[in-house]
Amino acid sequence: MKVDVLLGLQWGDEGKGKVVDVLTPKYDVVARFQGGPNAGHTLEFEGQKYVLRSIPSGIFQGDKVNIIGNGVVLDPALFKAEAEALEASGHPLKERLHISKKAHLIFPTHRILDAAYEAAKGKSKVGTTGKGIGPTYTDKVSRNGLRVGDIALNFEEKYAQAKARHERILQGLGYSYDLAELEKAWWEGIEYLKQFPLVDSEHEINALLDEGKSVLCEGAQGTMLDVDFGSYPYVTSSNTICAGACVGLGVAPNKIGDVYGIMKAYCTRVGSGPFPTELFDETGKKIRDLGHEYGAVTGRERRCGWIDLVALRYAVMVNGVTKLIMMKSDVLDTFDVVKACVAYKVGGEETSRFPFDIEHGVEPVYAEFPGWKTDMTKMTSEDEFPEEFNAYLTFLEEQLGVPIQIVSVGPDREQTIERYTEE
Ligand code: GDP
Ligand code: IMO
Ligand code: MG
Repeated sequence: MKVDVLLGLQWGDEGKGKVVDVLTPKYDVVARFQGGPNAGHTLEFEGQKYVLRSIPSGIFQGDKVNIIGNGVVLDPALFKAEAEALEASGHPLKERLHISKKAHLIFPTHRILDAAYEAAKGKSKVGTTGKGIGPTYTDKVSRNGLRVGDIALNFEEKYAQAKARHERILQGLGYSYDLAELEKAWWEGIEYLKQFPLVDSEHEINALLDEGKSVLCEGAQGTMLDVDFGSYPYVTSSNTICAGACVGLGVAPNKIGDVYGIMKAYCTRVGSGPFPTELFDETGKKIRDLGHEYGAVTGRERRCGWIDLVALRYAVMVNGVTKLIMMKSDVLDTFDVVKACVAYKVGGEETSRFPFDIEHGVEPVYAEFPGWKTDMTKMTSEDEFPEEFNAYLTFLEEQLGVPIQIVSVGPDREQTIERYTEE
């Protein structure tokens, strides 16, 4: 069997959690391959809302196996809080949530380092989620990290050494902090982790594939936040693109099947960094209000703008997207006009190719469409789609060269429409 991958094509928060939950019944296993508690994946069903951070979004559909892969960075304290809240709400996970021994641990001092580096950057700060993501991946790459599997191996001594190294850096930065509470919760989290199956997830996934089981990989963040291909340095510290699923789970490239690319009908970004189609006017505010565009975890205001097809074409290319999913089209239901950026004007010249620098002198060129002015939130079939909406979909498909297979018209699991396919 092949592994399908679902990932964000924009700057995160596209609605990955919702769609992974919707697609899970078709799969045997759901796996996260990168990122950590910087993610906030929202799911809504039966009048309840859940926000997942480290736990895969397949956890609510039956007894599917969910895997936290080696590419993920895990904060034991935040993980314990998240898992306990789920168990308390009637969703037992202990047996069916497997955690890779190779996943790296986020320390309390990684979180403090994250804050200290941001403070030192001043105006050019990244606007991180403050969860210690960058410092943890830095330690991984510089071969100083500790992994989940290390918990069983002389762990306290290794922890003390790593912490001392972090404290020397913090001293050098002149950053003051208080560790006591964070550390207490962290050690409780370490004990709690031991109750879960800690596995060699690369062996497990490949064995499941050999048995004919199907796997869905759930991306976190989005392509424009990828450390190589995103709007560097205003990115996260992992490879969010499809190739990240191979590295973050130990799945060979020839095992990848469908790549679901997910995008909003418009675009948002949270944190600092360039955003060519950002709207600073009433339209941007209207999108934010109607789309409730505030961070799922941090509550931060998300910046809003029109859909950017230059960036999306690039994202489709680097991910090898085979199927598109369009979210939150209902947010545009009342708009008279809907716009899509089809090219950038750079130095007076029009280009449809995503350039190295999108921070300076990039002006979006827009195509305009009449709005559909129809409440789509109760629709259940594409037969009900208004003509103007279909025209917008067709245009996007032509521009991106990939069919839009799913359209989401509201936050609930039920508000999801699968379109007809030729298969
Ligand atoms: P993720 O990080 O990609 O999983 O996305 P988030 O959960 O951070 O943000 C998506 C937000 O949009 C959440 O509040 C969802 O409940 C909500 N949402 C998802 N799909 C739709 C949709 O089709 N319409 C509307 N109005 N909201 C949606
Ligand atoms: P989900 O999975 C949106 C952004 C932060 C910041 C940058 C780096 O919910 O889509 P980090 O804490 O990773 O070092 O922050 O990346 N960011 C996200 N933005 N959605 C996310 O996750 C994000 N995770 C990180 O705002 O700009
Ligand atoms: Mg999110």
